[in-house]
Amino acid sequence: MIAESLQRDFNQHIQFEMASSYLYLSMAAWCEQQGLRGFGNWMRQQAEEERLHVMKFFDFVLDRGGDVRLEAIDAPRHEWESPLEVFEAAYAHECEVSRRINALVDTVMEVRDHAANAFLQWFVNEQVEEEANVSDVVSRLRLVGADGRGILLIDQELSARTAPIPDPA
Ligand code: FEO
Repeated sequence: MIAESLQRDFNQHIQFEMASSYLYLSMAAWCEQQGLRGFGNWMRQQAEEERLHVMKFFDFVLDRGGDVRLEAIDAPRHEWESPLEVFEAAYAHECEVSRRINALVDTVMEVRDHAANAFLQWFVNEQVEEEANVSDVVSRLRLVGADGRGILLIDQELSARTAPIPDPA
């Protein structure tokens, strides 16, 4: 059984992961409106990945006999100045996700919920990858600056990102 306080925190995190998916979908729309389908594809796949994160928390709360309570999601930002600004915003967002995962780990350690701690360790590792993936695109966008050909080259690379594969149940 999951503690009431942990159930509340996990439900809040379900909302935040869903808001992340919503934000990346909004970023995908903006990129594609600029004719940058590769950037849009990357963001679409990222939105899918966030939905998988939602479902991991969703299933964990239910598996522990908890109550999933979905909360309202605010409209995400929908305009940016450049692909670089989009990815800088995505990087800042991922750092915030990491901060929240770390705070959840602190909480589960306080209440000595070892199963929840084991569950969260997957996310601790995942966030290293999530930050690195976005940071890599930010670095390359900074390198090319306003050079349209450079941006189109990165766009082409990002079009290769494929759909995330859910973990086997
Ligand atoms: Fe679900 Fe990108 O963190």
